[in-house]
Amino acid sequence: MKHIALLAIVLLFLINCLQAQTNPGTSPEPYRPQFHFSPKAHWINDPNGMVFYKGTYHLFYQYYPDGTVWGPMHWGHATSKDMVHWQEQPIALYPDSLGYIFSGSAVADVHNTSGFGKDGQVPLVAIFTHHNPKLEKQKPDQVESQSLAYSLDEGKTWTKYAGNPVLPNPGITDFRDPKVRWYEPQKKWIMTLATKDRVTFYSSPNLKNWSRESDFGSDAGGHGGVWECPDLVPLKHNGKEVWVLIVNINPGGPNGGSAGQYFVGDYDGKTFRPYSKQTKWIDYGTDNYAAVTFANTGNRTILMGWMNNWQYANKVPTANWRGAMTLPRELGLAQVGKELWLTSTPVKELDVLNKPGISLKNLSIKESYDLTAKTKSNTGLFRLELTTQNTADFSVVLANKQGNELRIGYDKSTNSYFIDRTKSGKTDFESGFGKRHTAPRLSLDKKISLTLLVDVASVELFADNGLTAMTDIFFPDTDLTKLYLQSATGIVIDTLTYKPLAASVKADLE
Ligand code: FRU
Repeated sequence: MKHIALLAIVLLFLINCLQAQTNPGTSPEPYRPQFHFSPKAHWINDPNGMVFYKGTYHLFYQYYPDGTVWGPMHWGHATSKDMVHWQEQPIALYPDSLGYIFSGSAVADVHNTSGFGKDGQVPLVAIFTHHNPKLEKQKPDQVESQSLAYSLDEGKTWTKYAGNPVLPNPGITDFRDPKVRWYEPQKKWIMTLATKDRVTFYSSPNLKNWSRESDFGSDAGGHGGVWECPDLVPLKHNGKEVWVLIVNINPGGPNGGSAGQYFVGDYDGKTFRPYSKQTKWIDYGTDNYAAVTFANTGNRTILMGWMNNWQYANKVPTANWRGAMTLPRELGLAQVGKELWLTSTPVKELDVLNKPGISLKNLSIKESYDLTAKTKSNTGLFRLELTTQNTADFSVVLANKQGNELRIGYDKSTNSYFIDRTKSGKTDFESGFGKRHTAPRLSLDKKISLTLLVDVASVELFADNGLTAMTDIFFPDTDLTKLYLQSATGIVIDTLTYKPLAASVKADLE
């Protein structure tokens, strides 16, 4: 009996060792997000080809399966029923003789306009950029072109179209990241493409033949960097259709490095006409890049980005994986004064993670208020919501015994929100990392409302019903399990709720 028990222990030990070797996701990983998508191993950047089809959300992504820094790009693949629990799938697209597989989109071609469908099976069609590294030196204006691949088994396997590229390069050095959508009034596909310092719109009856329609942006918005990963989305405001043009830009973000800007305007199937040429920012944090929307989600518009920044993405101190996605966010429009602004709020599906928490009312804060005891064991996974009519300075502080702290709050003198990661732990892998990031408060309401979602090493801030969003990652020496509210001038918080959140992604890894 004793021997059998011993044998069982040895066997269990060996199985554990083997699992840890073959699946790095099971080894202790201090910065592994628990309810955001991150790859089991290796490098990811932009979300690609996000599409909802037959009850499944598909997330493809820029993926380098042989390393933890950027390399020859593939499309990795993950699926989910709720955008909360993700399961990795086999790689969808591999580089080929036309080059690496750069960013792009996917659509459900329900009318089979492409002719790829067989026996009534709706083809999922991916439209992506082929980036040919062999041409980078001699013919930089020929490196990138647009190509197709299709799937007849609901995204499981993909066939590249034999006629690739479908949109050859007309002589533009940065010519990439096609985002395609169906334009019902004219029964045609429209492609929004990043073309160096502007966006160019193309149209097609069948996804294979593309005609240039117009371009936008050489004289609008930010030009601190190259334009990448655009998206054109219709939203409703007071019953009227309004179009939002999203344009990611790198560098040139409001707090440095990569970020997403947008313009609000009209679109007639040919030309985008902005109401204002001034940049508006989707997210003021430094860690929401290449954010675009899911296709085929009906009346909902859901945005997701890469929770990282090209300024330091290749250097962030995670071990055998690098990169994660932001939470999925539902987009809307809100009017402030005469202007329309994008709002983003975490999707309601995330509520499945909520665990019973605490609710407090009329909290009077002088200097510092320790929430750590009240929240019992803050595990670094939580949602905190608060409202106040005071508009006085305050901060929410996450800290640990080592003296690391992440400070998130509101500054009355500048009427702005901030996330300060100067003392958040490991910051020296990049000189620009340990900084304080700010975002203007756009709302004119007296009442401030703030929602924070914290997942081990990231925070997402949504203020004033999503009018201001900020996303930042951080790398503390040990988990930030202490939680304080602070206000030097004093403040009354009208309502505060703290909900621990259940881990979800980890369950898929184990
Ligand atoms: C944006 C981007 C895209 C490109 C891809 C390459 O982060 O630079 O423009 O397609 O990443 O991985």
